[in-house]
Amino acid sequence: MNTALLKEKFRALYGTDGILYTAPGRVNLIGEHTDYNGGFVLPGAIDKAMYCVIKSNGTDRFRAYAADLDESEEFTIENLPAKQWARYIYGVCKEMTLKGAKVQGFDTVFAGDVPLGAGMSSSAALESCFGFAVNDIYNLDFDLFTLAKIGQATEHNYVGVKCGIMDQFASCFGKEGSLIRLDCRSLEYEYVPFNPSGYKVVLINTCVAHELASSAYNKRRESCESAAAAIRKHHPEVMLLRDATLDMLREAAAGITAEDYIRAEFVIEEIQRLLDACEALNAGDYETVGKKMYETHEGLSKKYEVSCEELDFLNECARKYGVTGSRVMGGGFGGCTINLVKEQLYDKFIDHSTKEYKEKFGITPKVYDVVIKDGARRC
Ligand code: GLA
Repeated sequence: MNTALLKEKFRALYGTDGILYTAPGRVNLIGEHTDYNGGFVLPGAIDKAMYCVIKSNGTDRFRAYAADLDESEEFTIENLPAKQWARYIYGVCKEMTLKGAKVQGFDTVFAGDVPLGAGMSSSAALESCFGFAVNDIYNLDFDLFTLAKIGQATEHNYVGVKCGIMDQFASCFGKEGSLIRLDCRSLEYEYVPFNPSGYKVVLINTCVAHELASSAYNKRRESCESAAAAIRKHHPEVMLLRDATLDMLREAAAGITAEDYIRAEFVIEEIQRLLDACEALNAGDYETVGKKMYETHEGLSKKYEVSCEELDFLNECARKYGVTGSRVMGGGFGGCTINLVKEQLYDKFIDHSTKEYKEKFGITPKVYDVVIKDGARRC
């Protein structure tokens, strides 16, 4: 990312210098659709990020320029802006205001290199970038937990995606070289050093844009909440699926639709899968981690139904070329697979699978080696 150009653009537009901030996208090794069920996730911040140059302008107006789109928007805290990208900035400022902070107007220019719609959380990166920046320029004293929650509330209240906390948490708390084992119920977390020697972690982007905001993601969440409510009738202590077991689910089956049942079954299994994978990771047993990743893909595809033909194809390629673990990453419905592959198999896997994908779908998929980096910060 050419941040010098971004600073120059700021100067050209507003006639003064601003401060540069950044916040990254994320990967998630395992633990998908578990966060909004109070379960565990294992994300890490990556070397693809959003960047903003920002400065207070002494008015009540927010003036923003999206450099990648060559679009501008101006708004106040009173009015939800029309442009989708501006709603992320607005949402962050509005949520801060609702928490009692005094957020005055500012000028900003922003851009990024997190691919959009690829399941790498470009929107969380944008929220965390502005959350961190606004907090800093106005000395608002929000801690990182609150900034992550402000980003999540932005998705809920101004974008319409009822997401969990994983993406914003990873973008705020990321640490170079480490994944974060996060308990999404208590928000207790632990850094897990991640350096799988002899292996590479690589993303392959189907280049099929996913539509998280489409009701499908929110519907999955509703299914989980309905199943948890049915279990709660038998076990009052069950607030979220995290608190439930497969036995409890079976016991409550009569009060749960077939579709909600299978979704809940996936989630309960996935929470356990993550715990098993973490244990294997601690023991340096990447073969087991990889096996769990394939199981996750199977569950996301057949039970949770958030995969698609293109993702399933890439997953099959991974199996065919002996990749240790592979699965759809993030919300699903398109985006990337995440692959754990032995170094000596890497070239063959990438060459063959991208070629076969192109032959079948007419698009060359994009390939990204995963580099785990730090979270939101002033540059
Ligand atoms: C999206 C959401 C996250 C999480 C994942 C699925 O990335 O923003 O909160 O639910 O999907 O694990």
